[in-house]
Amino acid sequence: MSSDSVFQLKQVFKAYPSKGGKKFHAVDGVDLELKWGVAYALVGESGSGKTTFGRLLSGMIPPTEGEIFFEGKKMRDWMRRDRRKFCKKVQVIFQNPYLSLDPKWNIREILEEGTLGAWGRGRKRKIEVILERVCLPKDCLPKKPHALSGGERQRVAIARALLMEPEFLILDEPTSQLDVSTQADIMNLLRDLRPTLTGGLLFITHDIALASQLAEVFIVMRHGKIVEKGLKKEILFSAQAPYTQQLVSASPAWPPVF
Ligand SMILES: Nc1ncnc2c1ncn2[C@@H]1O[C@H](COP(=O)(O)OP(=O)(O)O)[C@@H](O)[C@H]1O
Ligand SMILES: [Mg+2]
Repeated sequence: MSSDSVFQLKQVFKAYPSKGGKKFHAVDGVDLELKWGVAYALVGESGSGKTTFGRLLSGMIPPTEGEIFFEGKKMRDWMRRDRRKFCKKVQVIFQNPYLSLDPKWNIREILEEGTLGAWGRGRKRKIEVILERVCLPKDCLPKKPHALSGGERQRVAIARALLMEPEFLILDEPTSQLDVSTQADIMNLLRDLRPTLTGGLLFITHDIALASQLAEVFIVMRHGKIVEKGLKKEILFSAQAPYTQQLVSASPAWPPVF
């Protein structure tokens, strides 16, 4: 395993029970290495296992077979302190910001959760800086999540993740529940943030056009299997797997903009 490896997956399976007592593999024998510093996209149709894959990487669920290594260490062997360290290094942003933000808390409280270790004026300043970075007005701070728009809520989720100063970011369809113009705003924000996320990221999406706005390396998933992995250019213009070719040509935003 190379030392620049963030995640390494070895024959990883995730089975769910299905009708008739049979097992169904949402992730089906994945071997893969993700390296530091790269913006990856995981693309595939709905139901291909992308969210399950993201949950496996974020340690929310364990594989039913196989091993995932984070920085060379088996996640299965984690002690509590390993999990704590991981949670500081890897942040996850989900599809539905409403579900990921506690409705009882106001935005200030939600963001303060990410500033543990900073107090008083230092904490206040950190929150002001992050609000500016994600283009949210200060007057959102006393509001509860339900009082914000979908796009604003996703900005709060991004701000909270960034406050933890993560080294690697996992984003699972972060714009799929937003209207088209808000989606474009959030994609612009993520593109602007990309140079500051030096450790890299994994952008999970069913939309190959969105993936091409942010990612350098594409991983194509179908029925829980990785069918192809390659540089953006290779995937968009000279994909090898017929499934990838089909996915690319079906994209409404063809030809892609670089
Ligand atoms: N908790 C679960 N229990 C049973 N089946 C699940 C569960 N989560 C996902 N699945 C199934 O696994 C497959 C992959 O789902 P998912 O990982 O959400 O794919 P994607 O994110 O690509 O749409 C789907 O067929 C889905 O119905
Ligand atoms: Mg999904």
